[in-house]
Amino acid sequence: MAYYQKHNDMEKKFKRTTITSALPYANGPVHIGHLAGVYVPADIYARYLRLKKEEVIFIGGSDEHGVPITIRAKKEGCTPQDIVDRYHELIKKSFEEFGISFDVYGRTTSKVHSETASDFFRKLYDKGEFIEKTSMQYYDEEAKTFLADRYITGECPRCHAQGAYGDQCEKCGSTLSPTELINPKSAISGSQPVMKETTHWYLPLDKHEVWLRQWILESHKEWRPNVYGQCKSWLDMGLQPRAVSRDLDWGIPVPVEGAEGKVLYVWFDAPIGYISNTKELLPDNWEKWWKDPETRLVHFIGKDNIVFHCIVFPAMLKAEGSYILPDNVPANEFLNLEGDKISTSRNWAVWLHEYLQDFPGKQDVLRYVLTANAPETKDNDFTWKDFQARNNNELVAVYGNFVNRALQLTKKYFDGKVPACGELTDYDRETLKDFADVKAEVEKLLDVFKFRDAQKEAMNLARIGNKYLADTEPWKLAKTDMGRVATILNIALQLVANLAIAFEPFLPFSSKKLREMLNVEHLEWDNLGRTDLLPEGHQLGEPVLLFEKIDDETIQAQVDKLLATKKANEAANYKANPVKPTVSIEDFDKLDIRVGTVLECAPVPKMKKLLQFKIADGLEDRTIVSGIAQHYKPEELVGKQVLFIANLAPRQFKNGLVSEGMILSAENWDGSLAVTSVLREVKPGSEVK
Ligand code: 2FM
Ligand code: ZN
Repeated sequence: MAYYQKHNDMEKKFKRTTITSALPYANGPVHIGHLAGVYVPADIYARYLRLKKEEVIFIGGSDEHGVPITIRAKKEGCTPQDIVDRYHELIKKSFEEFGISFDVYGRTTSKVHSETASDFFRKLYDKGEFIEKTSMQYYDEEAKTFLADRYITGECPRCHAQGAYGDQCEKCGSTLSPTELINPKSAISGSQPVMKETTHWYLPLDKHEVWLRQWILESHKEWRPNVYGQCKSWLDMGLQPRAVSRDLDWGIPVPVEGAEGKVLYVWFDAPIGYISNTKELLPDNWEKWWKDPETRLVHFIGKDNIVFHCIVFPAMLKAEGSYILPDNVPANEFLNLEGDKISTSRNWAVWLHEYLQDFPGKQDVLRYVLTANAPETKDNDFTWKDFQARNNNELVAVYGNFVNRALQLTKKYFDGKVPACGELTDYDRETLKDFADVKAEVEKLLDVFKFRDAQKEAMNLARIGNKYLADTEPWKLAKTDMGRVATILNIALQLVANLAIAFEPFLPFSSKKLREMLNVEHLEWDNLGRTDLLPEGHQLGEPVLLFEKIDDETIQAQVDKLLATKKANEAANYKANPVKPTVSIEDFDKLDIRVGTVLECAPVPKMKKLLQFKIADGLEDRTIVSGIAQHYKPEELVGKQVLFIANLAPRQFKNGLVSEGMILSAENWDGSLAVTSVLREVKPGSEVK
């Protein structure tokens, strides 16, 4: 079967689809952010294509390499293998429980993966697709190991906070390189690291820039605006060679003589995991899913993975030479939880395994809410109140209520047998016409990855049904016109059967339950919109409730759980940042804190954490650079009065920019920053005492 996909107004023909979903790191359980961002949309799409009888495979698996896994193992006093074994199983189980219908769920510590990634590297190496570069990097002489950026801590050269990492200062948000840290220390042994020469292999992305520009910016204008925009900004900044190896003892050894102690960089081997997992599934037949130009490759990912899937991995595939490139990368933005960023380390998440303990059997409720609220175009927020409202007002009051009414009335008046459809009224015809279009509508939306709108269409069908029963009131006609009641219920039951089909990709558990109630084993997607799905006289099964109301106490318990987490985090924060030793008033007087008015505020090119301010300080205008770009849009701050340190020694940034002072911000428990100000407007330059 062939199907067609729109490409800049041209139709392109494909025979089959390879769907991949980002391989989660096996160093913690999965949460609602993972589900909403990647796995539910990927699953809806896979189910949808299968229902349309397209040839499709849906690939998943765990990403089991990388530095964070080794850090976690060290902390827990076990091996990295112990960590990934534990979390691979937990994650796999969570996905199964939520009905994520992978055809294979592999792991990057498997033999087939290690061979595949190793061969891939070797092929690129032999073809001369890498450049080899020697540079000086930090080495821990006690532990006898080179240090990954995260393994080096020290004083931030910008804000002078202690405990900054080799790649970033979490205090001021500056992006750092390890050599900039003042008094660097190895996080492994605590000793002072030394500089030592090391050689690595780099993928020269700069050499791929021309075709990447053409391929993405010209040939894939149909990609989601967030994906296209991020790619464009990477390409416009100019691509740099990227190291594809690391000095680390956890990973796939670099298959080159003399490369002892070096492994493939996790972002080199992880996407190859999609290929290895396909091999795991189809050892003799995997190639057509990756090499046939009539195969359509689609990557489902979160927005933090865009550059790897749209630029780096395609460059690897192109360099190898025999692979197809992704046709689309429908990346989602992020899902927040109750207004704050989901954070594994702060336990600010709804973990899937915990959800199922608290809401057994309610997988579809979460699937529904996460799709209804999917962060398709912008970051979205999950709140327990909204979860309750969508369950009670939509799933229960609309979908469940309609199904229950139709089935209970049929049981009551016709012993649960589908009654005969008599003559239709104009209103009946209008109703039938409404749902005849639903198939085309849902398909049109799913084809372009608009899952939220597609689910809304399915729910509209339930709304039509609910309204139909409310308007025709068959329970009132039962005394006078059983023929009419039969017709109304026949129509209602056909609608119910249509709902089982329309919701199948979104809410598979409920569709199954509904098919049991209808006593039908199978309903074809192709028949969606038809009004003869259930023949006259067909015996229905026993009606049960499709969804149940969720009460206020249950929701409050979840909110309380999060509040307790917030309190614990605040306490931990306070403990980690105790009040500093007492200072004298003379010491305090040395600091010159003043009020300034923000005249201008703009992003800093190539430094995505920084904002550049022009501040009126009473005397003249001064430039201050601050690491708060992730917390404020520039326009939010223009015209505002802020507190700043006026006598801090000027600091120069890597790009030559000089900051003449520091804007004071308060750090919230979740790491977000709030700029400080005064409660009443004052003259710029006023001293803070
Ligand atoms: O960001 C992450 O969680 C990565 N483990 C995703 C990897 S996707 C693919 F390349 F495997
Ligand atoms: Zn800093």
